[in-house]
Amino acid sequence: MDEYDVYWRVSEMLNKQDFVLDIGCGNGNLVNYLARRLGREVVGLDISDEGFARALGAAKRDRLLHLVRCVRADAEAVPFSDAAFDAVLLVHTLHHLARPEAILRETWRVLKPRGKLIIGELVVEEGQQRYGCHQLLVPDVQRMLRRAGFVELSTQLLCLDTALFVMTRGSSPELATLGVPATGYLHQDASTVGDGWPIDLPLPGGGCARA
Ligand SMILES: C[S@@+](CC[C@H](N)C(=O)[O-])C[C@H]1O[C@@H](n2cnc3c(N)ncnc32)[C@H](O)[C@@H]1O
Repeated sequence: MDEYDVYWRVSEMLNKQDFVLDIGCGNGNLVNYLARRLGREVVGLDISDEGFARALGAAKRDRLLHLVRCVRADAEAVPFSDAAFDAVLLVHTLHHLARPEAILRETWRVLKPRGKLIIGELVVEEGQQRYGCHQLLVPDVQRMLRRAGFVELSTQLLCLDTALFVMTRGSSPELATLGVPATGYLHQDASTVGDGWPIDLPLPGGGCARA
């Protein structure tokens, strides 16, 4: 299964009229893919604009430039109004976030009440480690999403290591009242799972293979 299989599955969950935000859009491949499939404007947001030139170049080549919007911003402060989007996507991005709970809370804000949050992530079962780093446990992701105010619609294991979490916006997030600590999400010890998750697992010989 390659990234386009994941993109296709994501696109199958969207409606043609959905206004979609892709958080952590990177090289913009998913944004371009959805703009083509939905035939409507798609917004890609990333803290780095490195991939935007490539995304816009591909969009221009495919005559999709009018449908592709790249926004450079930190996903902790999305420059859109409340309930602006019908769907928010985080594909292979969650494990890159320094403060995932802060971003999920912001995602909750910009998502419409009956909107969809679709997360594609690398996952492992407890006790497993496949690539040395950046694998999440399904229950940890589910717990964090619930705490951020989302209600689960489905969780599918697409292949050996990629899960698709589909959520909708529930009542207001616990986190909005609890507040989000400034640090504490980069655990090196799997026993600390609960506040966040072990995003960077140490590699044998030291260091971490976080991409
Ligand atoms: C693995 S890449 C994205 C993969 C992309 N979604 C795809 O499917 O090809 C993760 C991205 O998250 C972005 N990112 C990390 N922290 C972020 C933040 N706080 N706000 C927005 N983007 C962030 C990085 O710049 C990077 O482009």
